[in-house]
Amino acid sequence: MDLRYETGRPAVTVRPALSGDLDAVLAIRNHAIEHGTALWTDTPQSRDEGAAWLGAHLGRGSAYVAEADGSDGSDGSDGSVVGFGVYGPWKDYSGFRHTVENSVYVADGHHGRGIGNALLATLVTSATQAGLHVMIAGIEAGNAASMRLHERHGFEHAGTVREVGTKFGRWLDLTLMRRQLS
Ligand SMILES: CC(C)(COP(=O)(O)OP(=O)(O)OC[C@H]1O[C@@H](n2cnc3c(N)ncnc32)[C@H](O)[C@@H]1OP(=O)(O)O)[C@@H](O)C(=O)NCCC(=O)NCCS
Repeated sequence: MDLRYETGRPAVTVRPALSGDLDAVLAIRNHAIEHGTALWTDTPQSRDEGAAWLGAHLGRGSAYVAEADGSDGSDGSDGSVVGFGVYGPWKDYSGFRHTVENSVYVADGHHGRGIGNALLATLVTSATQAGLHVMIAGIEAGNAASMRLHERHGFEHAGTVREVGTKFGRWLDLTLMRRQLS
């Protein structure tokens, strides 16, 4: 499933991720780990860890990347991949098998151009087509961009759990958002 979105200049194409996207995806993910509170760890992912993580998604067909049309990497991005989105099991117990959790990350410098919208639309379509029942997003409660993004795609607030995480010397609250798929 390749989908082209007019997201401002340049437009992006969202396509299934490939193993060759590892370095670009890892760079976006590790930037988020080092600079933000979307991922609650201080430890960047090694290339081996990233390959195992991406490989599991590739096996399930649950990883997508946004590729900037006509990009040659001259904007400093690692190739033309400017964002990625994945979904995977929310919890490991078999009773949760119809529920997935998503992650959407857009490269620094490309925010606010509709790329998150394009990626999340693709994840919702893909998971719905795969017959899944519910998609969950776990969002740091101060992340207004992610809240808005998920509201826009039909996610409802399911509650906020206060002070269950910590990073950069402060407590973090986790807001859960839920979308019915089928
Ligand atoms: C959250 C994130 C994925 C959104 O992607 P994006 O490409 O910047 O977002 P889009 O341009 O597609 O905008 C999506 C919606 O959010 C809104 N939005 C974007 N940035 C916003 C901000 N800083 N504050 C409030 N709303 C914002 C947009 O207006 C849009 O809503 P609309 O369609 O009703 O106008 C991106 O900011 C990002 O990668 N952030 C760092 C990692 C992260 O937080 N990931 C989510 C983890 S839960």
